[in-house]
Amino acid sequence: MTIQQLISSRVQAALAAAGAPDAPAVVQPSGKPEFGDFQANGVMGAAKALKTNPRALAQTVVDKLDLAGIAEKIEIAGPGFINIHLAPEFLAQRLQAALADDALGIRKPAAQKVMVEYSSPNLAKEMHVGHLRSTIIGDAIARVLAFIGHDVTRCNHVGDWGTQFGMLVAYLVETRQSGDAELELADLENFYRKSKIRFDEDPLFADTARQYVVKLQGGDPDVLALWAQFVDVSMHHCQAVYDKLGVGLDRTAVRGESAYNADLPVVVSDLRAAGLLVEDQGAQVVFLPEFKNPEGEPQAMIIQKKDGGYLYATTDLAAIRYRHRQLGLTRVVYVVDARQSLHFQQLFTLSRKAGFAPADMQLEHVAFGTMMGEDGKPFKTRSGDTVKLVELLDEAIERAYALVSEKNSGLPEDTRRGIAKAVGIGAVKYADLSKNRTSDYIFNWDTMLSFEGNTAPYLQYAYTRVQSVFRKAGEFDRCAAIMIAEPAEKQLALLLAQFDEVIESVAATCQPHQLCGYLFNLAQQFSRFYEACPILAAEGDVRVSRLQLAALTARTLKAGLSLLGIDVLDEM
Ligand code: ARG
Repeated sequence: MTIQQLISSRVQAALAAAGAPDAPAVVQPSGKPEFGDFQANGVMGAAKALKTNPRALAQTVVDKLDLAGIAEKIEIAGPGFINIHLAPEFLAQRLQAALADDALGIRKPAAQKVMVEYSSPNLAKEMHVGHLRSTIIGDAIARVLAFIGHDVTRCNHVGDWGTQFGMLVAYLVETRQSGDAELELADLENFYRKSKIRFDEDPLFADTARQYVVKLQGGDPDVLALWAQFVDVSMHHCQAVYDKLGVGLDRTAVRGESAYNADLPVVVSDLRAAGLLVEDQGAQVVFLPEFKNPEGEPQAMIIQKKDGGYLYATTDLAAIRYRHRQLGLTRVVYVVDARQSLHFQQLFTLSRKAGFAPADMQLEHVAFGTMMGEDGKPFKTRSGDTVKLVELLDEAIERAYALVSEKNSGLPEDTRRGIAKAVGIGAVKYADLSKNRTSDYIFNWDTMLSFEGNTAPYLQYAYTRVQSVFRKAGEFDRCAAIMIAEPAEKQLALLLAQFDEVIESVAATCQPHQLCGYLFNLAQQFSRFYEACPILAAEGDVRVSRLQLAALTARTLKAGLSLLGIDVLDEM
């Protein structure tokens, strides 16, 4: 149990004993040492409900509150706040337990079978910045969920099916006959653009493309083989990005839209059997009264077009059905652009109605905003083209290399290259993860690579500073007792003891920025501690105790950053 949960449960029990069992305890970190370490705010609400004096009720609650061994002081403040000052010995004991545990004392809840679906680019084109966000955020969420003990499946639901592929295959055949297809495929965006031009300009080509679509859907082995070749090339492009980023995605995680092709007619027949399907102008449609169109009528969701073709949503229905029946997942997290919100709401609503997902299967759209350029418009190159992600990441590493070389020119070239990779990639990831994911954010090289502020380089540098303390300190007893006496020690200890709380919260809300904020606070608090409480100049038990606090800080920073997919370094 986290400290906050522990205190909450005790305050809850005291409220019950004081005659207010239904009032929530509302325990939170106070944020200010003078208000104690935690504050319970539930008494005021309880008093209102009981029509009694809040301060008197607060006194009764405090009399009944059993925090023996946990708190050293409990005070009533203002209209009925209860301020709780933790006992230093209690905190020290929690930290000691974290130090002794490889997982830093993170509680393992009953494991759930969770899928994190992320990245999921369309293979017809080059991956774009929207997929970069999904890839980074999804990886962090998958790491956090796995860390607290869930059984996590990573899934890359790539767009590898649909009419565009007929066109692309037709163009592949054509360029193989007349030019250098492999060279053309080196730039997918261009390949797509050119095939689209051919499609729009030449009716014969368009015809061939359409025939390929039909053959593809009918399972023609020759066309399927061509399609597979195209998909393979496109996946290679993606893999280069994944490898550079280090985001736990390879071919084993791919289960694209094409994988559900055979299930699509079954989705239709299931929906029909459930009485949900109606024919509307030749198309198979479900009307969802939960969603209204602009005319105030139930929103129509097309499942199968008049010509027999299926849609994006049909595949998603099949995927949910599969994830429940075949995989037995209890939670699916979709890390997808916020602009697809309505799609997912409708999808989830219909999946429940159709029995594709039972009520206790958690379906979540983890939405994120758009990555903007300096000009406040969606991120593009100066010439207005979509940015090649591999090039973006290379630029990050190059910029980091220049910075590191400037800061620490004495380091060997190899070392600087290694640091540049960790710092450059870390900066791109952290810039994304540290923002509230639902808002748009502005991509800015200078802020993300700054050594000041809430950035990856700042945190990585903070880690190296702690490491340098250890280098100077030499050997020390890694089991020695932690003693908390000074205010700066207590503030640091308090933060360290809240790591589990933050991780649980990120796992529940899928909001990695909470972890970033926590790590930033921790690094800052460590600096304050380092200023106020000399480590190396201290003696005896005090010195070792402070080294132990530093050791836990380093391990927490490292573990936290690694959950965000960011590497730490011993020097930089
Ligand atoms: N391929 C889609 C796109 O690029 C994203 C897929 C999201 N996942 C899903 N299950 N619909 O926009």
